[in-house]
Amino acid sequence: MKESFCFGGDYNPEQWISHKDTFEDDIRCFHRLGVNTVTLNVFSWAFLEPEEGKYDFSFLSSVIDRMGKEGISVILATPSGAKPSWLAAKYPEVLRVTDDRRRMLFGERHNHCYTSPVYMEKTRLIDEHLSEVFGHNDTVIAWHISNEYGGECHCPLCQEAFRNWLRQRYGSIEELNKRWNNAFWSHIYNSFDDIESPSPIGENKNPSLILDWKRFVTYQTVDFMNAEIKAVRKFSDLPVTTNMMYDYTGLDYSKFADNLDFISWDNYPAWGTGFGGDNVLVAADNALEHDYFRALKDKPFFLMESCPSATNWQPYSHLKRPGVLEAASLEAVAHGSDSVLFFQMRNSYAGYEKFHGALIDNSGRETRVMKEAGELSRKLMLLRLVRGTEIKAEVALINDRESRWAMEGSAGPRNAGLHYRDNLRRIYLGLRSAGVDVDVIDSSHSFDAYKLIVVPMLYMFKDGVADRLRKFTADGGTIVVTHWSGVADECDAVYPGLSPHSLTDVLGLYREELDALADGVCNRAVPVAGNELGFRSGYSCSVLAEIAELTSAEPMMVYGDDFYKGRPAVAVNRYENGRAYYIASMFEEDFYCDFFNSIIPACGIEPIVQGLPRGVIASRRGKYIFIQNFSSDAIRLSDSLSDKRKILIGSSDTLPAYGTIVFAE
Ligand code: GLA
Ligand code: ZN
Repeated sequence: MKESFCFGGDYNPEQWISHKDTFEDDIRCFHRLGVNTVTLNVFSWAFLEPEEGKYDFSFLSSVIDRMGKEGISVILATPSGAKPSWLAAKYPEVLRVTDDRRRMLFGERHNHCYTSPVYMEKTRLIDEHLSEVFGHNDTVIAWHISNEYGGECHCPLCQEAFRNWLRQRYGSIEELNKRWNNAFWSHIYNSFDDIESPSPIGENKNPSLILDWKRFVTYQTVDFMNAEIKAVRKFSDLPVTTNMMYDYTGLDYSKFADNLDFISWDNYPAWGTGFGGDNVLVAADNALEHDYFRALKDKPFFLMESCPSATNWQPYSHLKRPGVLEAASLEAVAHGSDSVLFFQMRNSYAGYEKFHGALIDNSGRETRVMKEAGELSRKLMLLRLVRGTEIKAEVALINDRESRWAMEGSAGPRNAGLHYRDNLRRIYLGLRSAGVDVDVIDSSHSFDAYKLIVVPMLYMFKDGVADRLRKFTADGGTIVVTHWSGVADECDAVYPGLSPHSLTDVLGLYREELDALADGVCNRAVPVAGNELGFRSGYSCSVLAEIAELTSAEPMMVYGDDFYKGRPAVAVNRYENGRAYYIASMFEEDFYCDFFNSIIPACGIEPIVQGLPRGVIASRRGKYIFIQNFSSDAIRLSDSLSDKRKILIGSSDTLPAYGTIVFAE
């Protein structure tokens, strides 16, 4: 792929097929904006195959040719994200069935059965044709497999596939009954044939069933994606990706990564309206997600979609304030993206997304958004040497999808919300305030590269995870384990014996009880005199409060209120060559900043920049350092930063609100 950052995005000129002038205007605007890449063909199936078996690629060919002549690269999508109406009319099996067992009608998108042999075959045929025609076209640089895979189908074909998947997993129905504890409520199955996917009109309370169904949905989606990859690979060896979604809990993306050449994702943060309008939290949450997608392959990824201005499907179509477009786009780059791509190039003139922000406005005016985008593309040119450079984080934050499924799928300990993501974000913010890069990883990811691993609310310890954490600590690493960790196994059965499972000696404590606090209710953590981290003030904590018994760990903070006043809230244990910290509850944001600023140096990690103010995030790609200010105030950079380094963009003395400085070390 080309050397500068890919800049452009989703382009659907078939909407304007009868407007020749518009197409020419698009091209003029692309050049003015510095667009070098467009994604074509997402949702174009009805154009490419207007009748069953009759392919017409002439329009697509003409667009690709023209892009080639204009020096613009094409990311080519397979069109399986939306089906043509003839396909649904002739083969109703391709239509999804909802969990209450209703067959859907034709319409919308992303709503077909991934098990249907007809859907798979029709997709294979068109993907292979596309591969044959365009797979060696110099203008095409990558395959964009489908679009935002998601959702689930409960049709008879999927039920059968689910039963077969369970047969493979458990071997016998007796084994399944035992692992799921089906003796409870008289739920013993006599045969795999008796099992139905979770349904509001059937079984919807068995957590092990719900968990395995989610696993199956991922398995089936990956299977479908792999069939599409195989189809495009028939005539082409261009790199493949599929565009993923923000914190999408319908799939376990860690199972997709090995099949893709590079990761890409679609990023639509609610700047100005999310998290009560606190853009520092929006930025942190977003950075966390970039760090998750990057760590899926430990390689640079693509920002496949983002919104140039207002996102029409969000509660508020809030305009990105001046500077936010640049800050958000460079945030992706700072965290490992090799592209800045948008949805979409030109506004639709009608249809569901007619009010969605776009780069080019139908009025023909040069809009504020266009001016900012043009400025952004010029900055990306200045940063082009950053493209392809890697981020080598020494800190990992575990964010395990299967564990979260099991934890959130259980009744209790807090059906009013476990605040898993809030807890994760606060920890992330604390780590970032300590000036370190972070990989956000699945628990199956290798631990080798890290010096510090944070394990927040890792409810499920998958096979081998506890042993790997033990070895990591014994070998000199630092772990930080929070409340509600090491509770259940891979079938969501509670581990017998003391918990956190198989880690009580490493942590020097065991869990006795877990208290859920009502919304708005807090406890306090107060420092123990002479604690080794030098904590002198207290912090509030809320949501869940774990009560532990220490065996060898030292308490550093204790609860200040309630019947468990005096019991440990933060503790540390030395285990062989390493250390294990324990945090018993969800703390206020400041705690994590103070905590990580204290422990990072002792972990043998050198921060990129020390002691960053709230809202300022530093990251390092190769020898390039990014510092971004997401607070609403300008900040002065310390003198140590301004000396003699080569600045690529920004100014070395102050960082305005939404400003970015990038320099080479
Ligand atoms: C998703 C889709 C796009 C478009 C955008 C709008 O990311 O992939 O086709 O609908 O949302 O924000
Ligand atoms: Zn189905």
